[in-house]
Amino acid sequence: MSDDFDLFRASGHKLFSDRKLKLGTFCSNSDGGFIVSKVEGQIAASWPSTLDAAKLADAAGFEAIVPLGRWYGRHTLESYTWAAALAAVTENPLLFSTSHVASLHPVVAAKQGATIDQISGGRFALNIVCGWMQSEIDLFGASAAGTHVDRYAQAAEWVTIIKRLWTSPDPFDFTGEYYQVKGAALNLNVTARPRPPIMNAGVSEVGKRFAVAHCDMVFIAPKGINEEIAAQVADYRRLAREEFGREIQVWTYASVIDGETEQDADDFYHYFVEEKGDWAQAEHHARVRNVTSPPMPPEEYRRYLEKLIAGDTGCTLMGGPDQIAEGLARLSSYGLDGVLLAWPQYHVGLERFQRLVLPRIERIGLR
Ligand SMILES: Cc1cc2nc3c(=O)[nH]c(=O)nc-3n(C[C@H](O)[C@H](O)[C@H](O)COP(=O)(O)O)c2cc1C
Repeated sequence: MSDDFDLFRASGHKLFSDRKLKLGTFCSNSDGGFIVSKVEGQIAASWPSTLDAAKLADAAGFEAIVPLGRWYGRHTLESYTWAAALAAVTENPLLFSTSHVASLHPVVAAKQGATIDQISGGRFALNIVCGWMQSEIDLFGASAAGTHVDRYAQAAEWVTIIKRLWTSPDPFDFTGEYYQVKGAALNLNVTARPRPPIMNAGVSEVGKRFAVAHCDMVFIAPKGINEEIAAQVADYRRLAREEFGREIQVWTYASVIDGETEQDADDFYHYFVEEKGDWAQAEHHARVRNVTSPPMPPEEYRRYLEKLIAGDTGCTLMGGPDQIAEGLARLSSYGLDGVLLAWPQYHVGLERFQRLVLPRIERIGLR
């Protein structure tokens, strides 16, 4: 059993409470969240828009606000400075920074995180990204380790230094392959006990091992809402327990395409994907990921673009409030601890979620 997991629970940390299904928002620092459509009422990478969404999530008692970490292709607010600002004007949720390892030195990341911990009264958390898009790896050039495996080895040193800075009362030296620090000290108190929580979405074998060895929460990307999720969750937990003696939480992300009724949701899907979908921009996103047609067969390529437009995810919760509540219950039944949500019309969706879905999931004991 991981000491840290027990310490989080013993300290009453709200991310580790007994609430059966924790909730968060995803990508509310980004133009459109995760969708690629010209539909009106989308979230924007602007302070008024993102602040309104954060206040709605705060009022609904969400546990987490997790930003997209992106340096190309989409307008996004930078995630540490954004989390710091939200920390000052929210009461409840954990404010995550989605941080690319190569983008900043661990001593700076630890200090920035501890500053957000101070501003928020212990509500900071770190989401580690090791480098997903080749364009971003190239952007950080010399500070990014060469291969995919190297980047996770670099991340292991990075996070080890950060954890020690957050917990060590004394200055320390660290000599690794990627980082050498001398007399490292935070010179700032951290409120969260035992330290701010850490998340990672590694899915490759090396990424998975990194996530369960070093992080408190892993973030999985299932291919749909089905029994395979239960197997995936069990697999991460087993790896964490058997190989590293650790307990972890497992979260996922779902795009919510909803309406006041099931029919409204169907009509809205057609409108925002078929009529308002930005197919040219979706093709651009596909090219960034090296997906083109040919070689992909045209029908498959069209489905791929449609998925990008609709929120780029395997997990979609679609329907009226009853269907959304049922979908969340299924995700919980597969053993997930938490779900991050995003809506095409973020503010309308959050308001409807609080009014119609929350009471339903409270009634069935998820919250
Ligand atoms: C739900 C989810 C959210 C992610 N968010 C980001 C992000 O904001 N920025 C980013 O560069 N990568 C993001 N990633 C990519 C992961 O950090 C990771 O690189 C990816 O899942 C591939 O795993 P691997 O590195 O083990 O191959 C996300 C992945 C998932 C599954």
